Amino acid sequence: MNIIIVGASGDLTQRKIMPAIYDLYKDKLLPDDFHIVGFSRTQMTDDGFIKKLGAFKDYDQNFCSRIEYISGEYSNLDSYKKLGETILKHDGNRLIYLAIPPDILRDVTANISKAHIVTQCACEEDKTNSYCVKTGNWSRLIFEKPFGTDTDSAVDLNYYLQALFDEHQIYRIDHFLGKETVQNIMIFRFANSIFEPLWNNHYVDHIEINISEEVKIQSRGAYFDNAGIVRDVIQNHALQLLSLLTMEPPISFDADAIRDEKVKLLKSLALYDENTYKDHTIRGVYHGYLQETGVKQDSKTETFAAIRFFIQNWRWAGVPVYIRAGKALASKTTQAHIYFKELPHKLFKNIAPDRNLPNQIIFKFQPHEGIHLTCLSKIPGKNFELVPVEMDFNYQMNFNSRLPDAYERLLLDAINNDLSLFIRHDEIKEAWRFVDSFLKRWENNSQFPLYEYNPGQNGPEQMHTFIKRFGHLWNKEYCRLKI
Ligand SMILES: NC(=O)c1ccc[n+]([C@@H]2O[C@H](COP(=O)([O-])OP(=O)(O)OC[C@H]3O[C@@H](n4cnc5c(N)ncnc54)[C@H](OP(=O)(O)O)[C@@H]3O)[C@@H](O)[C@H]2O)c1
Repeated sequence: MNIIIVGASGDLTQRKIMPAIYDLYKDKLLPDDFHIVGFSRTQMTDDGFIKKLGAFKDYDQNFCSRIEYISGEYSNLDSYKKLGETILKHDGNRLIYLAIPPDILRDVTANISKAHIVTQCACEEDKTNSYCVKTGNWSRLIFEKPFGTDTDSAVDLNYYLQALFDEHQIYRIDHFLGKETVQNIMIFRFANSIFEPLWNNHYVDHIEINISEEVKIQSRGAYFDNAGIVRDVIQNHALQLLSLLTMEPPISFDADAIRDEKVKLLKSLALYDENTYKDHTIRGVYHGYLQETGVKQDSKTETFAAIRFFIQNWRWAGVPVYIRAGKALASKTTQAHIYFKELPHKLFKNIAPDRNLPNQIIFKFQPHEGIHLTCLSKIPGKNFELVPVEMDFNYQMNFNSRLPDAYERLLLDAINNDLSLFIRHDEIKEAWRFVDSFLKRWENNSQFPLYEYNPGQNGPEQMHTFIKRFGHLWNKEYCRLKI
């Protein structure tokens, strides 16, 4: 098997892709005959490339002996022919990882196609096949986000890629989906009998997803200023989490059965209109953002966003969903909270008037992966005092083994032809359609407020009044005020 990394001199290759391949190799999960070919513009020898990789992880000699590096220009077909000749030295399947910025994606994929790096023997029939007709080998391509910047560009990009490759060769990666807890959402919901009966508007009061990062935009100013937190995080990670948490049970564990349900869920998100976007969304920017390198002086890009919306289907009608995401916040945390309704009659209200917290199921994705259920319990002793306690499922405590990195899992799935954790083109389109319904309105309304917050806060102060108007509190504040 050949693993070809385009954009091999970049950050993602060094920090994530190559360490993940190495860990798979160490765990004996790669075929014996694997080879790795790195391709990018930077001039380097094989040894120079290996040395560069070594700055992030120690690789053993046997692994390094399988690595080659080719330099070339992304828009020059001859460079890809040279790449093709190198790969031909090792017959076998081809996994092509496109670790490149989006603005060069079209050039790169067109040349990969023209140089027959995917259609290995250049037969006409290969163009509609995931396998090479002559050799029987497969070729698959892994694409990194962003997948477009709005509905139209995503659809357009998709047409472009589908003209070059078969949809089943296209693996659109969202590394969030490779996290153990994300995969466990489906197991938790559909392999246990006690949760699914409660998973609906009869028992759930509201849902909250939080994705907060402590870091600012670092060296990604030029990219981030054109994107903003909604495009960077909400359109993909947050909506992917939401769809796994709230979709209907798939008819099987097949990739397309799962993705069909995710698409149905995304299609049922209530779009914002001229009135709702003003009251049900809020955006912010951290103090000092305009001074970051690569950011436009008159930028209106948001580094914080919070939105409230509904899922318009039988199961979830009337249950508000809140999503909040931001940069330069107090902590690096990704969590989803399912808040259950309060009891119809509060039996203990005289004993613990301030302790009538609703039950919550919390999915913690980072920094510590786990699933927790909050319940009220009596404090041991003669007094009758109640306190919320958490029933914890923590990976470190329950499984005494290393948690594989998300990239490891996803690379292995791509090798094994399992598309379940990769995103299909229609999921991307539906997610953009929802996001566009408020984002385009923000962008067309220069008067729409962009509230400032100090780095290290949880977001702008206005986010509290935003959610209180609907009778809720953000999770952290909820705990602080009520527990
Ligand atoms: N880094 C991450 O943690 C991360 C996480 C999620 C998604 N992604 C996505 O993964 C992809 C790769 O990320 P990355 O961080 O590795 O990117 P990167 O370091 O900025 O770029 C990868 C390589 O592409 C080439 N390149 C960069 N800018 C270029 C330009 N304007 N024109 C032509 N070539 C250019 C460079 O190689 P040469 O100059 O040697 O050709 C560079 O080494 C991006 O789409 C990114 O959005 C990255």
